[in-house]
Amino acid sequence: MAFSDPDVSDLVDSLSLDEKCSLVRGAADPERTATGYVPGVPRLDIPELRLADGPLGIRIPGRSSTAFPASIAVAATFDPELARRQGVAMAREAKASGQHAVLGPGLNLIRVPNCGRNFEYYAEDPVVTADFAAAVVEGLQSKDVLATPKHYVANNQETKRLVVSAEVGERALRELYLPGFEAAVEAGAGSVMTAYNRVNGTHMSDHRRLVTEVLKDEWGFDGYVVSDWFGTASAVGAATAGLDLEMPGISLEALHEAFGLDPDAEMLEEGDDESIPAGETTTPRFATELKSAVESGAVPADRLDDMVARILGQMARIGLLDGDWGGGALDTPEHRDLAETLAARGTVLLKNDDGALPLSDDADVALVGPGVSEAMLGGGGSSEVTPAREVSALAGIRARTDGSVAFEPGVERVVTPSFFDDEREDADADDFPGGKTPDIDTAADCAREADVAVVVVRDATTEGADRETLRLPGEQDELVEAVADAADRTVVVVQSGGPVELPWRDSVDAVVESWYPGQADGDALASILYGDADPSGRLPVTFAPEESYPTASDERFPGVADEAQYDEGVFVGYRHFDAADADDEPTYPFGHGLSYATFEYGDAEVRGDDVVAVAVTNASDRDGREVVQAYVRPPAVAGVERPTRELAGYAAVEVAAGATETVELSLSEHAFRRYDDSEGWTVDAGDYVVEIGRSSRDIRAETTVSR
Ligand code: BGC
Repeated sequence: MAFSDPDVSDLVDSLSLDEKCSLVRGAADPERTATGYVPGVPRLDIPELRLADGPLGIRIPGRSSTAFPASIAVAATFDPELARRQGVAMAREAKASGQHAVLGPGLNLIRVPNCGRNFEYYAEDPVVTADFAAAVVEGLQSKDVLATPKHYVANNQETKRLVVSAEVGERALRELYLPGFEAAVEAGAGSVMTAYNRVNGTHMSDHRRLVTEVLKDEWGFDGYVVSDWFGTASAVGAATAGLDLEMPGISLEALHEAFGLDPDAEMLEEGDDESIPAGETTTPRFATELKSAVESGAVPADRLDDMVARILGQMARIGLLDGDWGGGALDTPEHRDLAETLAARGTVLLKNDDGALPLSDDADVALVGPGVSEAMLGGGGSSEVTPAREVSALAGIRARTDGSVAFEPGVERVVTPSFFDDEREDADADDFPGGKTPDIDTAADCAREADVAVVVVRDATTEGADRETLRLPGEQDELVEAVADAADRTVVVVQSGGPVELPWRDSVDAVVESWYPGQADGDALASILYGDADPSGRLPVTFAPEESYPTASDERFPGVADEAQYDEGVFVGYRHFDAADADDEPTYPFGHGLSYATFEYGDAEVRGDDVVAVAVTNASDRDGREVVQAYVRPPAVAGVERPTRELAGYAAVEVAAGATETVELSLSEHAFRRYDDSEGWTVDAGDYVVEIGRSSRDIRAETTVSR
């Protein structure tokens, strides 16, 4: 049994078989607040357990909460402390709404640039993913709210997500896809959510090796494993594989009814999507089959006891069983500030020719783009949050500037898909403030009159679908070209859930990537554009032409005959682009991001086994924030293929104008070791070059450490 708390063991012993079965599957929440609900057992004073969606904020139907930036933007800060604070804030908001667990962080590795949920994930690199996942988990759990890292594991695409099998080797699993989950478990996650997909042929709900042997036995995870919604492939298979809690535990119809949803609402529509076999996945399994399976011995009685003990154990851990749980606060000034700080710090300055940015306070601005009058909150799906407040780019810039702001939409609205907000989906494609009509020529004329044109473009991504192309939707590329032709200076702000192609980048003066910045969109953007904050975001994903990513073949993505071949192995993201045989250069490499300051690096110095230090001088007359990065290059070992370099450590540091800061970087052992299919984790003896720089392609100093 996982949890040795004697009170929990006694409780388990006091429960009837029916009561045990009712504790390991969801039900309809009578309050209609929770995404997932486990009824309590009043006879034994066991309270209810409520699980609410994340990871961009707390999603409660009909209520608002702080809408944080997309997780990819949070990772772009390269500052996990901010993610920990986000975890704390989300825990407080969850508590204020009576939710005991948050269904996040999402931490699948960004393998496919087209994945519709990349905005909910952190990075193409396992060290960044692990650091940010662990930080959010620590923050949530520090306030006695259970974190639910998801989706375990290899849920790297949305196409056919319920059936596709990730055909992935052990080395890539160990080196790339599992470390984030292991770090989240080490950080104290109370729960882990299984993925919809299969891995090497077996549904993750039923994957005994990964769920019981790796997660529970090897990593010592003693919390509960919860299914994704309607993602339990079988009752006996899942229970014996190690799944502890089935969600939502009721049929799709019953769920729709419980939430008063339109039965046609877009959640998981059976049969409608070819990846959902009608009737197969939306039937609760534990509700109908678990009791008899335990009675017949197909599921051992002590497995059911363990399932219950794991759930009760986590309830005990957060103080729920002794009534010592509560408090919290929504939409506080701290939460608002944090949402803005995260959005600003995660904003990446991709290009800035001739000091086009920052803007002068009194510049007359032509603000162009179909979305400038609405904050860019996120993508579609379970992560949608109703924001507590929202600031559009237009409102943020108007509030900040001393100059004039003229606005033109240029092209029709780009609609962000929504699972819950019909108004968002149905918004009139050309219903703009001031009755403006979208027209590219009018936008170009407006840009011609101004000192500077700021064009805000966006993509539209969602859970449940992958992007067909990395190009921006609609005629936004044409809009940027036309404005760039007309304007004296053009700054483009890209709001996207992951990498996009920027075919016009040579014709514009500056490019800013602000991802999905959340409720503070316009304020954060203005603080970067006007230089109140130094752009200190760095790319946690490589930007490159679509066909140059390793997943640009049908076999690898979206897969053929329901199998996606992960035979690129560990060569994902910059590991692929840096490989000697990669033909294509990234447009913007992993780790890239400019500052308004200029940094000079001193020599790198080794301090002990796993620390390197470097002096960073701000040679400009502006205060700046630098993200110092360390990459490790392994020694050549005959017969072993390894990435050219792997990120080992990084630190975000404020350096005042003219000042020098010595930055110490701890090197993660992860970058030194490799997984050998027969030997397991292996560290080859030899000299490892440590490269220190501003990005994976802008190395400023080098040193060597030995292993
Ligand atoms: C998503 C999960 C989410 C769950 C509950 C699923 O469709 O994959 O991330 O937590 O729904 O809304």
